[in-house]
Amino acid sequence: MPDLPPSRLLIVDDEVSLMEALREILSAEGYDVTGATSGAEALDCLQRGKFDVIMTDLMMPHMDGMALLRAALAGDPFLVGIVMTGHGSIPSAVEAMKAGAIDYVLKPFKLSTTLPALERALLMRRLRLKNAELEQRVRERTAELEAANRELDAFSHSVSHDLRTPLRAIAGFTEILSRRHAAALPSEARRLLELIQAGTLEMDQLTDALLAFSRLGHEPIERRPVDLAQLGREVFAKLEGEQANRRVEFAVQALPPVAGDPTLLRQVLVNLLVNALKYTRPREVARIELGCIPAAGPDETVFFVRDNGVGFDLRHAERLFGVFQRLHHADEFEGTGVGLATVRRIIERHGGRIWAEAAPDAGATFFFTLAPAA
Ligand SMILES: Nc1ncnc2c1ncn2[C@@H]1O[C@H](COP(=O)(O)OP(=O)(O)OP(=O)(O)O)[C@@H](O)[C@H]1O
Ligand SMILES: [Mg+2]
Repeated sequence: MPDLPPSRLLIVDDEVSLMEALREILSAEGYDVTGATSGAEALDCLQRGKFDVIMTDLMMPHMDGMALLRAALAGDPFLVGIVMTGHGSIPSAVEAMKAGAIDYVLKPFKLSTTLPALERALLMRRLRLKNAELEQRVRERTAELEAANRELDAFSHSVSHDLRTPLRAIAGFTEILSRRHAAALPSEARRLLELIQAGTLEMDQLTDALLAFSRLGHEPIERRPVDLAQLGREVFAKLEGEQANRRVEFAVQALPPVAGDPTLLRQVLVNLLVNALKYTRPREVARIELGCIPAAGPDETVFFVRDNGVGFDLRHAERLFGVFQRLHHADEFEGTGVGLATVRRIIERHGGRIWAEAAPDAGATFFFTLAPAA
C-alpha cells in the first residue's frame, strides 16, 4: 500500500545486539522501527510517539515483557503486542498472550515467521482502529438521532398545545352562533355551521392525541414485573362494558411476566384491544385473543393480540404505525390514527419490536416483543 505511511514498530530487547539486528532487518523491510533495551525506555518511547505494534522480549531485568505489555496496552488499547521468546519458554509466551499479546515469535528469528506475525499484528491494529471509529460513529449518529427526536417531540408538543387555544375559540363561538342565532339562519347556513362544529371537534381530538403521543417521548420508563394476562383481562372488562348488544369472546393465555412500565403497557393493551373490538364490529361473534409465542429467545418474549375482524392489506402494514395513518374511512370506523403509533413508541421505548399480520376480511394479528421480567 504505497500511500500509507510505514507502520511504526517498537522493538524491546535487553540484548542490545539482538535488538539492533532486528531493527536493521525490519527497517530494510520498510517498517519504521524504534528500538529500546528496557521496559522503562520502551514506556518512554510510547509516551513520546505513536506505535502500531510493540514486539517485546519476555525476560528482561527490572520490568519483564508481561509487565511492559500490560502498561503499554493500558496507555493505548489499540496497540498490538507480540512477544519474543526462546524455545524453552513457550508456556510463558502463552501467559503473555493472556496478558494481551496477540502472537509470539521464537528466537532466533526467522524472517519467514516474523514477517507474517507482524502482518497479522498490523491487520489486527487496523481492525481495532476501524472498530473504534465505527463505534464512535454509531455513538455520534445515535446522539444526533436522539437530539432530532427530542426536537421533533418538542415541536409537535408545542404545535398541538398552541393550536388548542384558537381552536377552542372557534368551537366556542360556533357554539354560541348556533345556540343564539340558529333560528335566524337559513337551513344551508345551519348545515355549514354543523360541518364547522364537526371539523373543530375532530381537530380537537387530533391535537389531544398528538399531545399525548409527544409526551411519550420524554417520560421516563419504569421497569417492574408486569402480568400482561391480568392487565389484558382488566382492560377488556372495562372496554366490554361499553359494547352494548355485541357477542365478543375474549381468550387469554397464561403469559410469562415481562419487565415494563405498567401504565404504558396498559396503554398498549388498551389501544390494541380497542382496535380489535372496533374492527370486529361487523362480525356476528367477535373473537379476540391475547397470547404469546413460545420462547423466541432468552431476551424477549413475543406477544400477540389477534382478532377475526375486517383485517387489512398487509402491503400497508408499515404505514399503520405512523401518526394519523388510517386505512379505514371514518364513516365506517371512527378514529384519529394515533393508536398504533402510540403502541409502537411504547414498545420501542421498552426495547421491543412490533409488527402485524393481516389480510382483508380475514382478521388481524399484532405482534410485539418485550423483555421477560428478571
Ligand atoms: N385490529 C385491526 N383490524 C383491522 N385494521 C386495523 C386494526 N388495528 C388497526 N387497524 C388499521 O390501522 C389503522 C391505524 O390504527 P390506529 O389504532 O393507529 O388508529 P385508529 O384506530 O384509526 O384511531 P385511534 O386509535 O387513534 O383512535 C386503523 O385506522 C385501521 O385502518
Ligand atoms: Mg386505534
